[in-house]
Amino acid sequence: MSENSTQIDGRGPRPAKGSQVEMRVEGIDDLGRGYGEVDGHPVAVRGAVPGSLVRAQIRRRHRGAIGGQLEEVLEPGPLQREARCPHVGTCGGCSFQTYDYAGQLESLRGHLLEKLQEAELLGEVEVEAVLGMEVPFGYRNKMDFTFGNRRWIEVGEPEGVAADFALGLHVPGVYSKVLDVQSCAIHFEGADEILNAARELAREHGLDAWDTRRHVGLLRHLVLRKGVNTGEILVYLVTSVEDAERVDPYAADLVKRCPGITTLVQGIHSRAASVAVGDEERILHGPGVIHEVLAGLTFTLSPTSFFQTNTVQAARLLECIHSEVQSFEGRVLDLYCGAGTIGLSLASAVKEVVGLESSASSIRDARANAQAAGIHNASFVEGDVLENLAQCTQGAQGDLCIVDPPRAGLHPKVIPILLAAAPARLIYVSCNPLSAVRDMEHLARGGYRLVRVQPVDLFPHTPHLECVFTLVPG
Ligand SMILES: C[S@@+](CC[C@H](N)C(=O)[O-])C[C@H]1O[C@@H](n2cnc3c(N)ncnc32)[C@H](O)[C@@H]1O
Repeated sequence: MSENSTQIDGRGPRPAKGSQVEMRVEGIDDLGRGYGEVDGHPVAVRGAVPGSLVRAQIRRRHRGAIGGQLEEVLEPGPLQREARCPHVGTCGGCSFQTYDYAGQLESLRGHLLEKLQEAELLGEVEVEAVLGMEVPFGYRNKMDFTFGNRRWIEVGEPEGVAADFALGLHVPGVYSKVLDVQSCAIHFEGADEILNAARELAREHGLDAWDTRRHVGLLRHLVLRKGVNTGEILVYLVTSVEDAERVDPYAADLVKRCPGITTLVQGIHSRAASVAVGDEERILHGPGVIHEVLAGLTFTLSPTSFFQTNTVQAARLLECIHSEVQSFEGRVLDLYCGAGTIGLSLASAVKEVVGLESSASSIRDARANAQAAGIHNASFVEGDVLENLAQCTQGAQGDLCIVDPPRAGLHPKVIPILLAAAPARLIYVSCNPLSAVRDMEHLARGGYRLVRVQPVDLFPHTPHLECVFTLVPG
């Protein structure tokens, strides 16, 4: 049967690539896209809000549904909201921006509940309501922008606009082009000014942007980081070579134009990989680090060490973890500890904290943070969790173990080591419910059961969800 003829199962012809379709949005799929049906075929459209009638252009099949690009909202549903950001629809950063905030939280909770039920992990346990933000904008304390010499031209831009320089974010699926971002609704207040000054000054100084195909060009990344509770701002400028002659006057002018910048560090790497981590670093202004206050402690943050990107919600996340640790007096293992945020905030309530983390700069920060806070019962081990866990968990029976892995979750070989350690309580902090559910299925087979599920919205207007899962043996 040809693609465009009527099909025997009663469905209409499959919408052809490039065609325009109308669709009533029924819900949100696992990837955060609004889904519905067109002639009986599932179609998923990023940025489409449940309840709205939308027009979309058919793109390609992706994970079970035909993908579409949102063209127009024909009939806004009750959950449709105005966008705050001029780049909505092009930038992949916050695709839920036009989705009512309470609706977003309900949908995220619904997905989590479904996954936990499918995996038969819940039993009698309730999934608590997602802890959302009162003001879900301007919340990111860190943004990683990219310089590029191929600028993505947005719909409606005048013809002939200069396309050889951009500072902003990658358009989803288009790695070689950079969307020139002038303002962002979710990064910290004051970040727009620094971003725009960095772009203007780069042009004034005649500096060229990185070319992802030919691997040439000076400017690669601009990372902006703020200590929300201290007001300190760090700029991490990643370049392909040191070139102090050109970089230093540029950096000095940026600091002059944006006096709120308390430190500026240059990171240097010429590898092809687009990562904002230099192989070498030079401090060009200020102390090279900033500070943030969280849970009553002052944390020192280097340019590349991990720190939760939403300070307000990180405090609530810590409160949730604390409530699970209350009245525990033994040793706490803080696995994937970053700069020690979780473990150090618990140190005064428990006997001892041992943190394990692979990033050298995070471990340096964690040790400095412990020393600065006068905490003497916390130690930090630098290394891969897989390679070091068995040693760290020797005699760990009765310990409390916190795991906070990256999005991919736990390495499969970590799980048997954890089970062998037999901690009295396991707190799994996750930014990806899918990998957490997968890991918890293995932990459940190994004798652990889920006793609490508390989601926290650390990433408003995105499909990502943070969650604290508590597991106990038996
Ligand atoms: C989600 S972050 C958690 C950080 C910390 N718990 C916090 O709240 O700030 C994950 C951390 O795991 C670290 N990491 C990633 N893979 C690792 C591995 N195989 N072994 C040890 N640490 C790892 C990363 O460097 C990062 O700091």
